[in-house]
Amino acid sequence: MELPKEYVFKYKGFYFGRDTSPEYLDTLEDFEINDSDIFLATYPKSGTVWTQNILSLIFFEGHRNGTENVENLDRIPWLEYNIKKKDYTTLPSPRILATHLPYYLVPRGLRNKRARIIYITRNPKDVMISYYHFSKYIKTLEEIPDLNIFMERFLSGKVLASSWLDHVSGWFSHAEDFNILFLTYEEMKKDLRSAVLKICNFLGKKLNEEELDSVVRQATFENMRKDPRANYESLPDDIVEREKGSFLRKGTVGDWKNTMTVAQNERFDKVLGEKIKTLPIKFIWDINNEA
Ligand code: A3P
Repeated sequence: MELPKEYVFKYKGFYFGRDTSPEYLDTLEDFEINDSDIFLATYPKSGTVWTQNILSLIFFEGHRNGTENVENLDRIPWLEYNIKKKDYTTLPSPRILATHLPYYLVPRGLRNKRARIIYITRNPKDVMISYYHFSKYIKTLEEIPDLNIFMERFLSGKVLASSWLDHVSGWFSHAEDFNILFLTYEEMKKDLRSAVLKICNFLGKKLNEEELDSVVRQATFENMRKDPRANYESLPDDIVEREKGSFLRKGTVGDWKNTMTVAQNERFDKVLGEKIKTLPIKFIWDINNEA
């Protein structure tokens, strides 16, 4: 089964949304990489916007102290979705770009191991439920109101960004090709301060205690939700269905338990359970129960 063409297209085995084109994607292999570049790579719904905001807060003093009103989307634009048709060579250094690309489609220059990549993973049941809700909110994604149907799509990689498992296992098994830091959504949730410190250490950025406190405070779910620079609120009405959700929806670990039935959970485990065990990540499925 191929997916409806008005929402996605396949390029080199991977589903992209319509905000990009095969011609533009063709140019990315040769996209010139600077040593100072930072990439934030994720499968959708794994904590991208959250980490975008953390990086904006770490690197831009004006963002941190509230004197600058530049949105996440402009601070840290998308590599493969150059929505505003920006010239990325003019971004201030270090350039920070977000991407959902699989490891095998990133610019070749990233393999020289000098530029840095942060890759965020999240337990895939929460990813799926977050994605399910997100599909209702974003008009450029196909809305699939029935979770059973959405789940089959998700499990077989028939969604934008294709298979969650392929994305995660691809990045992990090729980690040695890159200068990469792996973090999980759950560890950020459990101890945001430590996660911010890890990011700072990896990126060689020193913040004093006060600055660090400020980053952590402004990156909490509650505070980000109120911050129009961070919550993507300015997306136009032809992209979002405002009454149907928001980018910052619940922001918890284990929300899948509130939505998936026992049968759905069993089906999920049957398809992905064993494969997940082969990944070098110990997923946290519920914040109260780490087993
Ligand atoms: P939920 O839908 O489960 O609430 P992405 O940015 O990759 O699309 O991921 C979106 C998910 O990250 C959403 O999950 C969203 O609520 C969550 N998120 C965004 N900011 C967050 C924050 N500051 N703290 C916790 N979760 C956050």
